[in-house]
Formats: sequence, C-alpha cells, structure tokens
Amino acid sequence: MGRLIVSPSLLSADFSALGDAANLIKESCADWIHVDVMDGHFVPVITLGHKLVSDLKKKVTLPLDVHLMILHPERQIEYFCRAGADCLTLHYEGNIHHNRLMQQIRDTGCRCGISIVPSTPVNVLEEILPLVDLVLVMSVNPGFGGQKFMESSYKKIEALSELKKQYDYGFKISVDGGINRLNAVRVVESGADILVTGSAFFAEPNPGDFIRFLKSMPDNGTGGK
Ligand code: DX5
Ligand code: ZN
Repeated sequence: MGRLIVSPSLLSADFSALGDAANLIKESCADWIHVDVMDGHFVPVITLGHKLVSDLKKKVTLPLDVHLMILHPERQIEYFCRAGADCLTLHYEGNIHHNRLMQQIRDTGCRCGISIVPSTPVNVLEEILPLVDLVLVMSVNPGFGGQKFMESSYKKIEALSELKKQYDYGFKISVDGGINRLNAVRVVESGADILVTGSAFFAEPNPGDFIRFLKSMPDNGTGGK
C-alpha cells in the first residue's frame, strides 16, 4: 500500500445493499471503509449505528474508519469499539472533555481521531494534537454527501501539516468532503495523508480506476508519517 490512504465513505452507497458496497470498496483496492454515523441532532439526518460496524467486520477485512457525527459520543465509544471500529473519530464541537474521550477510545485499543467542521479553526486542537492518531478536516458542512469541496480547507490542512512537522506529531491528516479527481492533488500537496471520498467514488463507472488515480499522485512528502 502506498503512503496515501483512501477511505471511501458508505454514506453515498445504496443503503439497501451496504454489504455489496463494502465489497466494491474492497475490490477497488481502497485502503479503509469510512462509516458515517449521524444522530439527527449533531447533524440534521440519521444514518446508522454500531451494529453495521459489527456486521461489516464479519464481511470485510478492510479497516473501519468510523466518523461519529453525534451528540454524547461518550455513550457510544464502547459500542463502536467493541463492534470493531479500527479508528473512531469524534467531533471537537459539541464536546468538552476531548482529552478524556480520546483516552477512553485508546483504552479500548482502537485508534482515536478528532474532527473539526469548516467553521472551527485548527488552533483549538493544539492541546489534543499530541494525543490523537488522526485529525479529520471536514471540507464540507457535515451531514450530507455530494457537497462541493470548500477551498478554505486548504489553509487548514497546511496549518495542521505545519504543526505536525514543527512538533513531530504522529497523527495522520484526513480530509473529508467533496474530494474528487480535480482537487485531490492539491489536497494531498497541502498535507493530507488520508482522503475520504463518497459521491465521487460511487459515481465512478470503475471505482478501481479512481483509486489507482488517487494512489498514483505524488505523496505529501512527509514519508507517510
Ligand atoms: C459528511 C460525511 C462525509 C461524506 C463524504 O458529513 O462525513 O464522509 O460522506 O462524501 P462526499 O465525498 O460525497 O462529500
Ligand atoms: Zn465522514
């Protein structure tokens, strides 16, 4: 596997056939499966719960990259980690005790991630960056697939990449929302280690070609750190 990690999101798949969608992701040679969990409160819509994660775990071997867009994530950490999440990402917004939440995830053996919505600046994460395995930069307003990538995300990715280099942090930078063939190169050049892609992936006649294109791009020069 090259340095760039591609994590297609199930949100844009046919929900009546999520197992098939997971197999399509695996056959495309993507690296992870991005599972968007929404509660209808933190974001306007509801998607799915931890049982999908445990059922997917029995069906595919790819790491499950779970993105919780929910209020009170502390109530769900055990369920999702026990269900088989390989990385569990919570939002900075709507929570106070990020340090405790990240530790709670880590204590289960699952990797931990923190996510910021487009209107949240990177500097609010400064105290938590040494603790996390992943920072998820939302390049769209959370809740829906198929939205347009927000150009303001580039400077946030660059700022995170700078902090990572300056303090030699180990977290990976993931970018989520509106990723496609036209912006992927600049997103990676800005410092992204992981690309989450939903609608662009499932709109492809041959998703494997899209994955091959993404993985053929020059990496962000961090040596995959
Ligand atoms: C949005 C989700 C994203 C979304 C990405 O709230 O967190 O993961 O599914 O889908 P696209 O690539 O269509 O923006
Ligand atoms: Zn997501």
